[in-house]
Amino acid sequence: MERRDFVKLCAASAACTTLPTAADAAALKARLYARAVLVNERGDAIRAEALTAGVNYVFDYPFASTPCFLLRLARPAAGGVELRTENGGTYRWEGGVGPERTVVAYSAICAHKLTYPTRQVSFIGYRDAPSPVAGNGKVITCCSDRSVYDPAAGGRVVTGPAPQPLATILLEHDARSGGLAAVGTFGGEMFEQFFQKYAFRLQMEMGDRARAPVEGRAVVRELAAYSAQWAQC
Ligand code: FES
Repeated sequence: MERRDFVKLCAASAACTTLPTAADAAALKARLYARAVLVNERGDAIRAEALTAGVNYVFDYPFASTPCFLLRLARPAAGGVELRTENGGTYRWEGGVGPERTVVAYSAICAHKLTYPTRQVSFIGYRDAPSPVAGNGKVITCCSDRSVYDPAAGGRVVTGPAPQPLATILLEHDARSGGLAAVGTFGGEMFEQFFQKYAFRLQMEMGDRARAPVEGRAVVRELAAYSAQWAQC
């Protein structure tokens, strides 16, 4: 990414970091994808203020088959969290955007064995309430092997076998309109592994559209409307 693009991204979003230097070769850069305004199923722009705290929203980004979680947290997510990928890449998560920096987004592809929300069922999702796996709640749990992620701390792994945080989805927030747009990712994205592992399923369900970039707009749904069943743990 060019420096001017990086500066532009930082100006538009709280999700930015310092530019890596030659002496800091493991520092990861943000990856910009096509910009997609978040809209509801009627096509109206989503306003950050209209999101309900604790509700698990889902949208596909940056590809037509790769779901992401959109959350409004009950408390501000101030950021400043140092994170590391399985390969040793480091990055600094700078917190949420929108009202009191409470709005965050992450790839919904589990960093362990790539469990993700399908139209039939989701074994991974945000759990507001306490449970045996979620502890006191307000975490993202993957019921496949019980990895737990903290959405208020950059998706870091709280417990379980996941080797790295969930990849951050970079959001822009328009302070005047309240609108939100996805613009890229940060951290350990798993898209290539995802496309390889689920190649047959994706081909059967979506044909060549699975790798189609999401651009222009991305439709946000509640997880209950995205997946017919939600396995909770
Ligand atoms: S696939 Fe999510 S914990 Fe194993």
